[in-house]
Formats: sequence, C-alpha cells, structure tokens
Amino acid sequence: MSNEFDYDVLVIGSGPGGYVAAIRAAQLGLKTACAESRETLGGTCLNVGCIPSKALLHASELYEEAHSGALEKFGIKLTGAKLDLNQMMAEKDEAVSGLTGGIEFLFKKNKVTWLKGHASFEDANTVKVGDETVRAKNIIIATGSSVTPLPGVEVDNGKGIVVDSTGALSLPKVPDHLVLIGGGVIGLELGSVWRRLGAKVTVVEYLDQILPGMDGEVRKESAKLFKKQGFDIKTGTKVTGVTVKGKKATVSIEPAAGGDTETLSADAVLVCIGRSPNTEGLALEKAGLATNNRGQIEVGHDFATSVSNIYAIGDVIPGPMLAHRAEDEGIAVAENIAGQTGIVNHDLIPGVVYTHPEIANIGKTEEELKEAGVKYKKGKFPFMGNSRAKTNRDTDGFVKVLADAETDRVLGVHIISSLAGTMIAQVVQAMEFGATSEDIAYTCHAHPTHSEAVKEAAMAVTGKPIHI
Ligand code: FAD
Ligand code: NAI
Repeated sequence: MSNEFDYDVLVIGSGPGGYVAAIRAAQLGLKTACAESRETLGGTCLNVGCIPSKALLHASELYEEAHSGALEKFGIKLTGAKLDLNQMMAEKDEAVSGLTGGIEFLFKKNKVTWLKGHASFEDANTVKVGDETVRAKNIIIATGSSVTPLPGVEVDNGKGIVVDSTGALSLPKVPDHLVLIGGGVIGLELGSVWRRLGAKVTVVEYLDQILPGMDGEVRKESAKLFKKQGFDIKTGTKVTGVTVKGKKATVSIEPAAGGDTETLSADAVLVCIGRSPNTEGLALEKAGLATNNRGQIEVGHDFATSVSNIYAIGDVIPGPMLAHRAEDEGIAVAENIAGQTGIVNHDLIPGVVYTHPEIANIGKTEEELKEAGVKYKKGKFPFMGNSRAKTNRDTDGFVKVLADAETDRVLGVHIISSLAGTMIAQVVQAMEFGATSEDIAYTCHAHPTHSEAVKEAAMAVTGKPIHI
C-alpha cells in the first residue's frame, strides 16, 4: 500500500455483509478498517434482527409447549408453567451481547480496526468517520437497511404501543391484542412470538395473500396453518391510520380496493411493511455515486459500483434482504479486491421463515416458471406420510419439488416443516451441483428423518412415492 492511503480496504457498516468482508479482507493480507456508528458490531442481524428474533422464537416455542398442555400426549404433565418475560428478554439480550462481542473479538484477532462513528464520503477515497478522516484505496459500502415507515403512522418504540421490529423485540408486556401492519416475514415471525406468549394477533395485509414472492401453494397452506394457530388474517386490507390514546391504539382499516372503514382496538401495533436501503447521510454524491429509484446502489457481478474502487454489498444493493446473502457477498467482494475471483450464485439464495412450522424455499416458484414459459414437472409429498413426523405429531406441511420437464434438473424446492430451515440446505447443495429430481430420489436418506420427505417428493416428480 502506498503512503497515500491509511487502509487498503475501508468497510462502511459491520452487519453480516460488512464484518465478513472486513475479516476476509484482513485474512487476505489487506490492511482493513470497518466503520460502524452503532455501539456494538454485527449490524441489524445481530443487534435487532436475526439473532434476537430467533432467541425469542425459540424461548416462546418452549413456553407454549410447556404451557399449552401439548406435551401431555408424550406423557409429560406440567402444571403452573409461568412466563417470566423479563428473564426471557434477559436471555435474548445475552445471546445478542455474546455474539456482538464475538465479532469484536474476531476483529481484534484478524487485526481489523474498528472506526467508531458515522461514515460519510469526502471523495472517492476519503471518508469522514466521526471526527476522523481516513483515506482508503478500496471502500465497501455495507450500510444495510432500515424499517420502511408507513406515512401517517408514527412509530415510538419507547412507548411500546406503535412499534417497528426493534420495538417488537422488547415490548414491556404481552399485549392483549397485537395488530401487524404487513403479513410478511417480520410480521409472521414476531407475531408468532407474541401469540405464543398470549396475545391475540391480527394481521392486516394489503395484498390478497400473505408472504409475497413465495410459491402460491406455500402461501395458501401457510395462511391455513397460521389461522389454525389463532392468527386473524385480514388480506386485501389497508391501514388508513393509527391513533394512540393513553395505552390503546385505534387502527383504521378498509378494503385495499376501497370501501367501508372499520376500526381495530389494539394494545400494540407492529409496522412491518418492508425495509429500505441505508444511503442517506453517506454523501454518495461526493464520491460520484448515485442510487437507483429504490434508493439502492447498483453494482456489477464483482460488486463494484460505477466508481471502480467503491464496492457495495448486502441490503443496500438490489436483491433479497438476507443475512446469508450479505455474508457470501462479503467474502466474494473481499476476494475480488484481493485479485481473486469471488462469485455469489444469486439464483440459489435460500429463504427461511422461522415460524412453526418453518417455511423454506430455494430456486423458482411455480408461478415464476409459468410466467417464464418453462415446462416443468412437480412432485409433492406431505409430512402426513413421513414416519418421523407422524411419530413426533409434527405432520404440518409438505415438500414440493419442481423440475424441468425435459432435463429433470431441479428448478425449485419449497418446504413447510418444523425442520424446513435445516432441510433446505441439502437441496441448495444438490441444485448447486445441477442435480436432477432423479439424483435426489436415488440418494439414500437416513430413516427415520423428516428429510425422507425430500426424497419422496423427488420420487413423485417422475413416478410415485412409497409412503402416500
Ligand atoms: P446491516 O446488518 O443492516 O448492517 C449495516 C450496519 O451499517 C449497521 O450496523 C449500521 O449501523 C451501519 N451503518 C449504516 N450506515 C452507516 C454509516 N454511514 N456509518 C457507519 N455505519 C453505518 N435475515 C436472515 O437471513 N435471517 C433472519 O432470520 C433474519 N431475521 C431478521 C429479523 C429482523 C427483525 C430483521 C429486521 C431483519 C432480519 N433479517 C434476517 C435480515 C438481515 O438482518 C439483513 O438482511 C442483514 O442484516 C443485512 O446485512 P448488511 O450487512 O447488509 O446490513
Ligand atoms: P416483507 O416485504 O417480508 O413483508 C411486508 C408485507 O407488508 C408484504 O406482505 C406487503 O404486501 C405488506 N404491505 C406493504 N405495505 C402495506 C400496507 N400499507 N398495509 C398493509 N400491508 C402492507 O417485509 P418485512 O416483513 O418488513 O421484512 C423486511 C425484510 O427483512 C424481509 O423482506 C426479509 O428480507 C428480512 N427478514 C428476513 C427474515 C428471515 O430471513 N427469516 C426475518 C425477518 C426479516
């Protein structure tokens, strides 16, 4: 590195994209710093996203099992199971601090310098971080995303009545009635947490189905399962306003196509209508950069922006806003800067909703294949036919395999199952290797496991499964 620069690589943002990019760059021998304005490292994911939400999903599932009498069938009688919300929150906070502290440790171990403060460009190589100005040969923008506000609905996480996902991770008490504005991933995950802890949950979704972008049969079956669990789902409905009086909120709703207004009285309202990229305050224009009309930074396949020494990854660029995608891009971009060939296969990014059952997908939906005019075959296998699921009384869901009608190459797999998030990994790997449905059908799967349902769904593509 010439004396002209303080660092070979400066990463802006320490989420799963940024911290992974910084560590990989340092591992490849590049002098690296990472700017982060939060008090702790790890970004949205570790601080207020993936990790705290999964901590609460796990704990609330255990509570519901212990509390609801569901374990009695297995010969386990529990009386007097009680909720200690403060302890549940403390446990969640410990998970977060353990992992964010872990990133700090990894930065020290790999000699990544943490520059504390808000970063903004002075020019294409110069960035102001807090009071300090640093120059870097390469800069990676990994500033992530924030909650999209709903015009006219004011979020106040401190009051704990109208909240966003961050507020919903720390409600001071279980609301009697929680209204979710948006029936997407955040709503269903955090709605599940509070429903299990005792809240009545109403979902207000603008579109005619929940979980946009997912396979049609999955959306339909998921809605059925969530309704069975007690969710009140109002699709094709829009929120026209929320007012707060004392400790209560009044949510005004009407049909999306227009019609009579109704009101819902709620103790908490969660605004979860999507997330938007964080580019404001970066002074991108000083570096010669602009955003597209969705506020995202456009990049090429190597993650370089229109300014060749500036790269961008993660939620701030187009694509699914997922931590594992950001991580893989973090590794790839660092390798590209180091002169290697870092690639991410954006066609094969799995998605998982961590509700019960979990909902996992990879590749194309049936609707996407139809739209593209691709001829396909379909194999479906319900967990009702899976011995392990039946034994565990865990039969909700199915596996659906979509394969090319001519080549039999697997094009998409959709799973609803308590273990879907873990099971999807085998199909992602198979698809990375270009597997056909026959390859999966003739792969030996251990018995008795939920994964046998993947094999049987693959068998159903060209022939018949055994157990249904
Ligand atoms: P972020 O994680 O958003 O990190 C960006 C960081 O940059 C932040 O720490 C921010 O403070 C910092 N920053 C921004 N601007 C500046 C600046 N100018 N100067 C200095 N620092 C700056 N994804 C999954 O894959 N699985 C899940 O289970 C999952 N659960 C989620 C649950 C919730 C409630 C939420 C909200 C999100 C969840 N996500 C999940 C999405 C996931 O959190 C994001 O996709 C992921 O964090 C994106 O990583 P990133 O590195 O692009 O950005
Ligand atoms: P989302 O895009 O998943 O869902 C938002 C929902 O709100 C959509 O169904 C949309 O139609 C609806 N909507 C939009 N405007 C509306 C309005 N005015 N009234 C009623 N409904 C409206 O967004 P969400 O749930 O906020 O999550 C943001 C992102 O965070 C996700 O897309 C995902 O990338 C990430 N995430 C991932 C998780 C995971 O991987 N398990 C968990 C949580 C978040």
